Amino acid sequence: MTKYVIKGGKPLYGKIDISGAKNAAVAIIPATILVGGVCRIENIPQISDVTMLLNILKQLGADIRTVNKNTMDIDCSAIRSSEATFDMMRKIRASYYLIGALLGRFGSATVAMPGGCNFGGVRPIDQHIKGFTAMGAEVEVKNGHVCTTAPGGKLRGASIYLDVVSVGATINLMLAAALADGITVIENAAREPHIVDLANFLNSMGADVRGAGTGVIKIYGVDRLSGGFYSIIPDQIEAGTYMAAVADAGGEVLINNVIPRHLKCITVKLEEMGVYVEDRGDAVLVRRDSPIRRANVKTLPYPGFPTDMQPQISAVLCIADGTSVITEGVWDNRYKYVDELAKMGARIQVDGRVAVIEGVESLTGAPVKACDLRAGAAMAVAALGAHGVTEISEVGYIERGYESFVEKLRGIGADISCVTEPDAEDEEKSVG
Ligand code: EPU
Repeated sequence: MTKYVIKGGKPLYGKIDISGAKNAAVAIIPATILVGGVCRIENIPQISDVTMLLNILKQLGADIRTVNKNTMDIDCSAIRSSEATFDMMRKIRASYYLIGALLGRFGSATVAMPGGCNFGGVRPIDQHIKGFTAMGAEVEVKNGHVCTTAPGGKLRGASIYLDVVSVGATINLMLAAALADGITVIENAAREPHIVDLANFLNSMGADVRGAGTGVIKIYGVDRLSGGFYSIIPDQIEAGTYMAAVADAGGEVLINNVIPRHLKCITVKLEEMGVYVEDRGDAVLVRRDSPIRRANVKTLPYPGFPTDMQPQISAVLCIADGTSVITEGVWDNRYKYVDELAKMGARIQVDGRVAVIEGVESLTGAPVKACDLRAGAAMAVAALGAHGVTEISEVGYIERGYESFVEKLRGIGADISCVTEPDAEDEEKSVG
């Protein structure tokens, strides 16, 4: 079992480099299935969700070569099967992008139902299915698989209005539409930076996607996409997490390789909390040298405050000088981590989608667990500003989405180490 051990209460100083965006990478990697030729992709984050997706593509027959740590050549020309039913598909959410990509390329796809962080129940894909159906596909969910077929072997453009703003449905329908016959219009589309990044990737390979970043995306289907070069945008949430870490622990850190515009929603909230944030073009300087002020936060689809930063900002507000109200506007249940923060002395009451945080002077280190990816990051944020030692277990969740988490934090002076202990089963096995 691997744990992070953090000795808190030490301000953070120095520089940190942000990696490529996880949620862009997990869309762009499946998108290479649509491309006839080699895609050289730069700024791919080294995280376990990406490793799993690359392994899925290899199993399907893709040729993947590592150029350097964060650059890969991906050639999916040799893929012949549109069936992705491997067990590992169930471990990550983004495996559902294989439906749009395989269906778009082959006119049919059988894909294992996706996994991913559980925010209180099954994460629905009805909007994805509604879109595929509008494009002429027959869709059936059976035995844990999504089976889709486009009669005649090709999807046709359609007009699709999403009932909820869904990142996943927007991306999946963009993938399905890139090679479809005719024009697809997605209304009430998600506007996250990774949607724009996927559109830019597809366009640089020869697609015709217009309007990404607005609520209406038009995809003019083309006959083929060909290989090329693309560099993934920096990770907005990784940057936001380190901004929250500085806000919690205090200090001054230059966060490099970011697009400050993508961070605006986070920056504005941190400033309201008394944190100094300076836009340095492709970096932000973050400083906290006074007490954290209370604030209310409501998460919303982009450009609202991101749900993927909700646990981390809540961790900081635990030590604010008053009572803060958090309203989760995207997921039904994203407060599982609250019980863990309570072990460190946090005072939080949850009622449905609302959490009320009564600030305390400081948190105290305790053994806690990462309940999911961002919840795990929130534990680390809380631990960095807390008195004493925090041990975070189940850090595999954190490694799904943060490249070199421990090394990066050590680089700005955090007292954090990664400890691997034999788990109970191994101990039993090793006895005698
Ligand atoms: N929804 C539906 N029907 C659908 C799809 C979504 O009702 O068909 C609902 C969901 O239940 C949710 C809301 O719509 O209430 C938004 O879901 P969305 O589809 O946008 O989420 P997702 O695509 O499954 C992605 C990110 C999540 C992030 C959300 C929201 C990836 C791989 N995952 O999930 O990221 O929280 O968008 O921004 O891109 C993370 O990185 O920690 C993470 C969980």
